Amino acid sequence: MKVLLINGSPNEKGCTFTALSEAAAELEKNGIETEIVWTGTKPVRGCIGCGGCAKLGKCVFDDDVVNSILEKAKTADGYIFGSPVHYAAMSGTMACVLDRLFMSGGSHMRFKPAAGVCSARRAGTTATYDQFNKYFGINRMIGVPSQYWNMVHGKTSDDVKKDEEGLQIMRTLGRNMAWLLKVLKCAEENGIELPKQEAPVKTNFIR
Ligand SMILES: Cc1cc2nc3c(=O)[nH]c(=O)nc-3n(C[C@H](O)[C@H](O)[C@H](O)COP(=O)(O)O)c2cc1C
Repeated sequence: MKVLLINGSPNEKGCTFTALSEAAAELEKNGIETEIVWTGTKPVRGCIGCGGCAKLGKCVFDDDVVNSILEKAKTADGYIFGSPVHYAAMSGTMACVLDRLFMSGGSHMRFKPAAGVCSARRAGTTATYDQFNKYFGINRMIGVPSQYWNMVHGKTSDDVKKDEEGLQIMRTLGRNMAWLLKVLKCAEENGIELPKQEAPVKTNFIR
C-alpha cells in the first residue's frame, strides 16, 4: 500500500516538507510505502472549467505538474496534501493543483483516506486545514484525524524541527493513516463493498 504526499510549497525542503517527512517516516515504519511529490516553482494554471477533463480523463493542460500528479494519484491508496499558509489559506499553487486534480481525477481518489497538513509562521492554520477538508468532503474521501488539527509552526525547517507538538501531530497522523489503510484492506478482503451511491441530484438555486 502506498501513500502519496504532495508538497505545495515553493520551498522544496522547507517547513511543509519537514512536516510531510515526519508523517511519511511514520507511515513507512508501519509498513506503508510513501512518495513525496513537490509541486515546484513553475507556474500552475487555475481550472478554467472547460469540462474537457470529463472526456480526456486528465486535465486539458499538459504543461505543468497536474497531470503527472494525477497519474501517481490513480494508484495511491491514501493521500497527504501539505501546504504553507499564505495569507491564511493554502498556497496559490496548491489551490490550482487541487482544483484541477480533483476536477479531472477525483474519481480515482474516492473513498480513499486523505489528510491536509499546513505550516505557518504564526496564524491561518485552521482556515487552511478547513480548506483542505472541503476537497475531501465533496469527493467522498475518508478524512484521517491526528491528535490535533494538522499543523506545524515555523519559518524555516529548523524551526519546525523544534515544534515538538507539531511533529508529534504528524507522526500520529502517519500512524492513524497506516492503521486505516490496513482496516480498509481487511474490509476489502472480507467482501465488504463500498457503499452504493445514488445518481447525484443537482438542485440549483436559480431556475
Ligand atoms: C506569500 C506568503 C504569505 C504568508 N502568509 C502567512 C500567513 O498568513 N500566516 C502565517 O503564519 N505565515 C504566513 N507566511 C509564512 C509561511 O506560512 C511559513 O513561513 C511557512 O512555514 C513556510 O513553509 P514552507 O517552508 O514549506 O514554504 C506566508 C509566507 C508567504 C511567502
